[in-house]
Amino acid sequence: MKKNQHKQAEQNTKNNPSPKKKDSLWLWGGLALFIILGAGAYFYYQPPSTLSAKATPAQIVRGEQVFSENCLSCHGAEAIGENPAQSRGGQKADGSYLAPALNGKGHTWHHPNEMLFSTVKDGSVAKDSPMRGFKDKLSDDDIVAVLQYVKSLWPDEIQVRHAMRP
Ligand code: HEC
Repeated sequence: MKKNQHKQAEQNTKNNPSPKKKDSLWLWGGLALFIILGAGAYFYYQPPSTLSAKATPAQIVRGEQVFSENCLSCHGAEAIGENPAQSRGGQKADGSYLAPALNGKGHTWHHPNEMLFSTVKDGSVAKDSPMRGFKDKLSDDDIVAVLQYVKSLWPDEIQVRHAMRP
């Protein structure tokens, strides 16, 4: 805008304060407030801790921490499994169990949420399995978080197929 045009515009608003300007101030103020409240709610609202709810960013961060402290030693970094060549687990040469990949390459995603939860909380149904329950060590929220982290490693297609399971 040229200098004199600018002056002219300024003069116009001075002499004749337009009601429209006031309105738009309310509009933008309202919008800003809406965004601030919305962002706050997004970060602070924790949906009920169930595995079927969409994971929150905070859950994934917590889940990754729980995973590295409790699961990584057997299931490997990013849950690639104890032996990535045998992603479905199985047995080692000595007959003991191999920790499977949990990252979508193994069999894990074929299990419904309730079963994944109970495997981590109460341990494997195989009593001689090294996969023991974490109920004395992890809260239910942490178990949900670690499984949400595990699920976040699955390719999109597998997440969709798992969510469609009965
Ligand atoms: C001491 C080793 C060990 C640790 C630690 C461990 N697991 Fe496992 N986990 C196994 C083995 C071995 C299996 C497979 C045998 C079985 O299911 O009994 C297994 C199976 C599983 C399964 C079922 C997978 C499937 O494909 O059926 C899930 C889910 C699982 N573990 C999650 C976890 C999570 C989450 C943690 C950490 C909180 C964890 N595990 C810690 C050894 C371990």
